[in-house]
Amino acid sequence: MKQAKFLSFEGIDGCGKSTQAKMLNQHYLDQGKDVVFSREPGGSPGAEAIRGLLLTGNTDKWTAETELLLFTAARRDHLETTIEPALASGKMVICDRFADSTRVYQGATRGDLRSKVDLLHTTMIGREPDLTIIIDVEPEVALKRGLARNTGEDRFEDFGLKFQESLRVGFLKLAEEYPLRCQLVDGNRPTEEVFKDVLALAQL
Ligand code: TMP
Repeated sequence: MKQAKFLSFEGIDGCGKSTQAKMLNQHYLDQGKDVVFSREPGGSPGAEAIRGLLLTGNTDKWTAETELLLFTAARRDHLETTIEPALASGKMVICDRFADSTRVYQGATRGDLRSKVDLLHTTMIGREPDLTIIIDVEPEVALKRGLARNTGEDRFEDFGLKFQESLRVGFLKLAEEYPLRCQLVDGNRPTEEVFKDVLALAQL
C-alpha cells in the first residue's frame, strides 16, 4: 500500500475535521513518522497574521472577492514556507483545510467565484493534496458545535445555518468532481468510529 504524503481534511464548520486531523497526526507520530501538522488559513507566521484578519469581525468585513485574495495570499505563503519544504525533505504533511475550502466557501457559497478561484489556484498555488478527507456532518449539529467552541474566530459560523447547509452541498459536489482525491466520511458517528474510516483511507 502506498502512503499519502500530503493529506488535507475538509468540511463545514464544526464537522470534527480538526479532531480527526489531529488524531491522524498523533497516530503517525506514535509510529515514529516524520509528519508536519498544519492548518489553513495559517500554518506559517505570515499566513497566521492573515488568518486573524479573515476570521474575526463582522460578516460584512470583507467581500467574497477580497476573501479570495486574502485566502490565496495566505496559502501561497504557507506553501512556500511550510508545505513545500516539508514535502521536499520527505516529510508527510497533514493540513486542516486547503484549497477545497476556497472552492466551496468563496467559489460556490459566499460568492459565485469558482472560475476566479480556479484561475488564482492555477497561477499562484498549483498543487493538490494526494488525498482529501471530507467529514460530512448534519449542518445543525455542526453549527452548534462550532459556535459552542467560542474561539472568537466565528466570522463564517455567523453567516448562519442556511450558509452551512449550502456549504455542505458544495462539499458533496466537490467529492463528485474529484472522485479519486476527495473521499467522504460520515462524521455523524462517535469520533473513534469515524477515525477507523480515516485511517483506512489514509493508506492509498
Ligand atoms: P477553522 O480553522 O475553524 O476551520 O476556520 C477557518 C474558517 O475559514 C472556516 O469557516 C472556513 C473558512 N475558510 C474559507 O472561507 N476559505 C478558505 O480558503 C479557508 C482555508 C477557510
